[in-house]
Amino acid sequence: MGSKRVTYPKIIGHRGAAALAPENTLAGFAKAASLGVKMVELDAKLSADGEVVVHHDDTLGRTANGQGPVAQASFAALRALDAGGWFGEAYKGERIPTLAEALDAIAKAGMGVNVEIKPCAGREVETAEKVIAVARAQWKGDGPFQFSSFKRPCLETALAQAPDYERGYLTDNFAEGWLENAQALKCASVNGNFRGYTRERIAATHAAGLLALTYTVNEPAIARQLLANGMDGIITDVPDRMLAL
Ligand code: G3P
Ligand code: MG
Repeated sequence: MGSKRVTYPKIIGHRGAAALAPENTLAGFAKAASLGVKMVELDAKLSADGEVVVHHDDTLGRTANGQGPVAQASFAALRALDAGGWFGEAYKGERIPTLAEALDAIAKAGMGVNVEIKPCAGREVETAEKVIAVARAQWKGDGPFQFSSFKRPCLETALAQAPDYERGYLTDNFAEGWLENAQALKCASVNGNFRGYTRERIAATHAAGLLALTYTVNEPAIARQLLANGMDGIITDVPDRMLAL
């Protein structure tokens, strides 16, 4: 990684631009770039045979035309699936990308990336290690980069093995100790669900020296209020609407 960054773009495309193109696909990242988005979030997990793929759900079916757990599918089997047809005819044939392919495309598009490490249960450390290895080998971008995760073992692994990359502490419910945990993991940001990210929590995040990012905000009026409250970055499915703010 290059020099340490302390800021992220205000608008971060969720799973690419999830309301506008199939999530977590190269077409989705290209869509985000075409809108002028400067950073995208994606979800990384392992196939049965240990390939790091970009996919949100633990199971197939919603965004790829297979069934059963991703963790039990080989990379070859995942690769044969259609990850775009569910979204629209124009995206039929879109594939589940590897993390390496996604990072390459995102860097070439001039964007930064938030790689959410989203392991299947029991594979937390292995997933983080493989994600880190891919990032080290593949990320050549100039834009901001962070690993984020809801899973403490993933962030611990990232801190231990990739301390030169920034980390984001994901929290859905701001459970007891959220800020202390984020600090202990030397995170650059707390990435919290917007429903619980109050003005006071944003101020506490800043007082601890961390940035405040939030997901998944799709209403411009809510985004405006969060930004007025000091929020540093909004992760959104509708970056077109948010960039217009
Ligand atoms: O990283 C923010 C957000 O993506 C976390 O939730 O379920 O959309 O991955 P989820
Ligand atoms: Mg995510």
